[in-house]
Amino acid sequence: MIKAKVAVLVSGGGTNLQALIDAENSGIIKSGELSLVVSNNSDAYALCRAEKAGIKSVVISKKQYKEKFEYEIISTLEENGIDFIVLAGFMCILSEKFTSHFKDRIINVHPSLIPSFCGKGFYGLHVHEAALEYGVKVTGATVHFVNEIPDGGKIIMQKAVSIMEGDTPEILQKRVMEEAEWKILPLALEKVCFELISNKGD
Ligand code: GAR
Repeated sequence: MIKAKVAVLVSGGGTNLQALIDAENSGIIKSGELSLVVSNNSDAYALCRAEKAGIKSVVISKKQYKEKFEYEIISTLEENGIDFIVLAGFMCILSEKFTSHFKDRIINVHPSLIPSFCGKGFYGLHVHEAALEYGVKVTGATVHFVNEIPDGGKIIMQKAVSIMEGDTPEILQKRVMEEAEWKILPLALEKVCFELISNKGD
């Protein structure tokens, strides 16, 4: 069976990348092959996770490439024959030029139930701060396709997570990762890769 070649774009700790690596090793992901990790941050711990897993990684920083940043990512993805892209804690908003280049070929994991607490400015811990401040009793995570609207593409999977008395943003972030993100991201990636390779007729 031919697998989709997957690139994971990261910026930080890379726990979602780790969930994907573990899911590939345990056979949950079988229609895709983690082939490349791209980080915009040379200090990202995600790079160590990629190295340990034997996955090629590349650092492409905005500071270095400036207006050629996205162009450099696109070239790198194409040179490596990438079929599918996962944004896993990638803290840069991609332009329409980028998203339309890979139309229906990019997914993102977001730590809330979209359409709540999403869009520009809602990333990482800020999402959980906003949920706690609003006082919602349920939050969660969403995996969705990426288009030109931040967090605005078609939803693939969601999972709800309860908010508990005394939660801090850090505690909530950890629960949302453990109970939702690390579970639905691998499942969603397998789903889209399976559909991609099936449509190719391979
Ligand atoms: C995750 O919670 C991810 O959902 C979030 O950043 C964290 C990255 O953690 N992404 C966003 O907020 C994107 N809008 P990780 O590097 O350990 O996977």
